[in-house]
Parts: sequence; structure tokens; C-alpha cells
Amino acid sequence: MCGIFGIVTEEEQALGPILIEAGRWLSYRGYDTVGCATFHKDQTIDLRKDVGKIDEVASRLNFAEMTGSRGVLQLRWATFGVPSQVNAQPHLDSDGDMVGAHNGNVVNNLELRQQFIQEGMTVRSMNDGETCVHAVERYVHRGYDTLQAIRCAYQDLEGDYAFVIGRAGERELYAIKKGSGLVAGVGEGFTCISSDLPSILPLTRQIIRINDGEIVTLHPNRIELHRVSDGERIERLPQTITESMESAQKGGYPHFMLKEIHEQPTVAGEMLRLIEKSDDVKQLVERMASARHLYLIGCGTSYHACLLGSIYMAQIAGIPAIPVLAPQFIAQYAPAVGPEDVGLFVSQSGETKDVLNAIHVAQQRGMRVLGMVNVIGSTLTQVSEHYLPLACGYEISVPATKTFTNQAIAFLFLALRLAHRPTQQLSEQIPALMKLTLEQISPQIQQIEPLLIAQNDLYCLGYGLTYPIALEGALKLKEITYAHCEGMLSTEFKHGPLSAVYDDFPVIFVCAPQDIPLIVSGVNEVVCRGGRAIVIGPDDHRLRINAHHLITLPQMEAEISALLSVLPLQLLSYHLSLARGFDPDFPRNLSKTLTVD
Ligand code: M6R
Repeated sequence: MCGIFGIVTEEEQALGPILIEAGRWLSYRGYDTVGCATFHKDQTIDLRKDVGKIDEVASRLNFAEMTGSRGVLQLRWATFGVPSQVNAQPHLDSDGDMVGAHNGNVVNNLELRQQFIQEGMTVRSMNDGETCVHAVERYVHRGYDTLQAIRCAYQDLEGDYAFVIGRAGERELYAIKKGSGLVAGVGEGFTCISSDLPSILPLTRQIIRINDGEIVTLHPNRIELHRVSDGERIERLPQTITESMESAQKGGYPHFMLKEIHEQPTVAGEMLRLIEKSDDVKQLVERMASARHLYLIGCGTSYHACLLGSIYMAQIAGIPAIPVLAPQFIAQYAPAVGPEDVGLFVSQSGETKDVLNAIHVAQQRGMRVLGMVNVIGSTLTQVSEHYLPLACGYEISVPATKTFTNQAIAFLFLALRLAHRPTQQLSEQIPALMKLTLEQISPQIQQIEPLLIAQNDLYCLGYGLTYPIALEGALKLKEITYAHCEGMLSTEFKHGPLSAVYDDFPVIFVCAPQDIPLIVSGVNEVVCRGGRAIVIGPDDHRLRINAHHLITLPQMEAEISALLSVLPLQLLSYHLSLARGFDPDFPRNLSKTLTVD
């Protein structure tokens, strides 16, 4: 998840400290390289960039001394091209008199690079941010002014991105938005632009939100907007932002958890587009395919994703993969593994001590280590031969939500790849279904909530593909409502826990379309003993007439329906936590990353 920032000032001044500060604000998005460029009056461009963290690179390359009347900063999370100085952004055009940087993915990067090379341009990196610059250069060479050249470039660049660009000899910066976030700010004697609001708020509270298909021209004292489609000018006045910095970071939501729940469609699409083209992910798949035994290893929520992953591997690819909790891997499997075996270690943070302990033991046995991880630069990314980036950006709330769904989706993607089946359709299909599901379930959750507020004991049951979802739902409910919620296989309920059912005892069933008859049996075992059955599943009359309450999901394939059935459980946990008077973002006794044994 890259981040961009640009500033234009009336006078030439020290821009380095402003760019460094903006970089710190954007750094929560995750990144591996940092770069800054400033424009001087004498038409020279000062460009400094390298691999590393913002403070480290800024001090090594002395960003603080950079001056100018226009500045651009970029933090890059590697997608096209390895993290390296040459692939770091911003990028120059062929002649070195334009500089620009982007955020997002240009999916036809490789095709465009070839065209630019054939057209005689100097292409220095593998990075798609450079492609954005050359796409503008192409039309500048054909005689267009900068604004028109950007309009034309927009038609050539496929994917979701935002980018900022400037030309020596002018006074302006330009930015464009297509799918990725972009916000502009207007202050006393300057204007600025950024991937998100928090990096602008320390400078100004006069904000203009940019929509897809709009080009922003940043003058030192005003902002102009044009529509890409017809080049027409758009009038939009700045609005004053009154919210606090913390609530700005929450993007208008009352809690990080709710924001992160609603970010799921976006980050799912971003990750899928990213991994679709990734060479590293291709190699990861090859390594998985070559394993004698394949282990999927994680803790907590990440372990639940492993469990779902193993079902996808078996059902879709016919490959047995062994899901196991990281500490248990050490006791149960490590003594028997060797160099022919592969462990895919799954972790949001990449720093969970239980996971790192298991990796240590696996490495001692010569086992191959792969990763699936959200935080780039974490220990897991460093020790993995190849890793799949979850690309969720920062997950701040302690309960994992968007990282779970991206883990589950990544497993579905890997299973399809291992089965040699197409995966491109997922990036269209899944985000749209997630959005629809969130819209459809929100009012239904509100109806169920009052029934459960006072309950301190409940069960959450699933079968087959929904078994891991039931475990995950139960973990979410326990973690932030402090009620005791046990997750289990629905068919196991009759082997003991059924005896605990009393009048109105709540049991939540999570049902995939193909398991309706089996779930209906389980529901009736509970209902006839006085329990209250709540089902999350497809809109099916068998579920409707047998259960007390049915939370319906949109119609979709079983594999996707199973993973999306976690959304109602996330939302239910969130609302119950609030209703019971707790802070869902920061539950007591827990921390986001458990770096202890
Ligand atoms: O960073 P990790 O994915 O390795 O963390 C593992 C667990 O600590 C984590 O999933 C935890 O269970 C969550 N807080 C659950 O919401």
C-alpha cells in the first residue's frame, strides 16, 4: 500500500522537513522504499530515494536539507519490481525534466514498458510508477501541454492508482485519481495533495476531496479540477475539516474495527490484483506444489484462515495440506519434517512469537519456509523464501478482520492456482459480493443484537467450509464482548454440549449452501430442547422455517459464501461489544501483536 504526497508553495523554501513529516504520517500504510523530489527555480530537480524506513532514509540522504517550491514524496510497497533504489519512487522521465510518483497498481505495466522502450524512451526501472511518468511523457513529446498529456495518459494506464507529477520550468504539480485515495489541501501560501487525510491535517484543514476521473492542478495559492472524460473544469470549494486527527484516521467511522470491516471489499480487490501478477507468488505456488507434506501454520485468527485454506486445498486442488497451530506444530510435526516439506506460515504482524518459534524449529529441520503476511519488513517477510503480501494496510484494531478475509481469499486464490484454474475473475467477483453482503446484513444484525446482549454463554457452529468460520466468529465474540462463546463443528454438538442447552440458550449456525440439510438437523436438535437457533446462510426456505432467525447472505458459489459468512459475525461482535459497554478496538488483556511466549 504505497502513499504519495505533493506540495506547491509560493516561495522557494525548505521542503525537506514537510516531506519527512508527511512520510511519517503515511508510513502506517506499510512500505519498503522512500523517495523525495524537489523542484528548484533554476529548473533542476533534486531526487533522493532508497530502500528503508522514512527516518532512516531521510537521515542517510539528508532529506531535511531539500529546498524548492514544489516537492513530491512517495513511500513504496513493492509490487512491480523488487524493493531497490532504482525501483523506488519518484521517477524521472527520459530527459530528467519531469518527475512523478504513484500509489496503486498499473496492471498493464509490462506492456506499456515495452512500448515506451520501442518509442525510444529511457526506462530505468521495473516499477509501474515510472510507467505513469512515461505515459505522460509520450504525449508531451507529441506536443500536448501537461494537463492534456495527463488526460491522454489516463486512457493508457489500466488499473487502480493515483499519481502526482510535475515538470521543470512550470510552477504547478498535477495529480490524477483512478481508484486509489486522493485528497487535496489548501493553506496560506501553499497547496498540497496526498493519498490520505491525516498527512494533510497538520498543514491545513481546508480540504478538497478528489473523485475518480479527476485531474488536480496544484497552483501555489489555489487548486483547479478538470474532468478527464471531457477536459471540462469542475468547481469544488474546499471544506473545513473539524474532526480530530484520531477521528480522521478512523475515516469517519467511530472505531477502527468498523472502518476495517468496511475496508474489506477494497483491500480484497487490491490484494487480488497485486498477487495476480506477482512473480514471487508464482514461485510460492511452485514451492507449495513441490512439497512432500504441506503445513499451514498460524495462531488465533490466522490459524482459522489456515484451517479454511486446507479445506480449499483439498476440495479445489486435491492437495492435502495440514493446518496446525504454531506451538503445536513444534510438538506434533516438527520432529518428523525435513527438507522435502514446506511450511506456509501465516501471520498478520509477521512478529507473533509463537509463529517465529515454530519457524525456528522448522528451519533447524531444513524445512522450506514460506510466508503469508501483512506487515512488510516484519521478521516473517525476512525469513521466508517467498511470501504472499496481504496488502491490507495497517490493521489497528486488535480484533483481526480485514486481514482474516484477505488470508482466506489468498488461500482460495492459491488453491485455484494449484488446481491450474483461472484466478483473474476473483478481483471482480469478491469485492462486489463483499460490498453487497455488508449492505444486506447490516440491518439484519441490528435485529439480532438485542437478543444476545445479555447472553454470557453461546455456541457458534459450522460444518465443512464454515467450520473455520464458526471458530473465527466465536473468537471475535469472545475477544471483544467477553462472553464465553465456543466455536465447534456442528455435528460434534450432539456429542456432549447439547446437554447444556436450556430455554433460549443461543446457538449460532453458519451454513454453506451445500450443507443445508445437515444444518437443519442440528438446528432442530437445539430448537426441540428449547434453545434459540440463529442461522447465517443462504436465503433458503428450509433454514427459514426451521430456525428462529435467519441472517441471509446474497446468492453465490459455496467457496465464496463460506468465507463471506464471517462478515455478519464480525459486525455482530462489534455491535455487541459496544452494547455491552466495551471498546472493540482495544479489548482488555490483549495486544495486537503477541511477541511473548
Ligand atoms: O499477527 P498474527 O496474525 O500472527 O496474530 C495472531 C493472533 O494473535 C491474532 O490473530 C489474534 O487471535 C487476533 N487478535 C484475533 O482477532
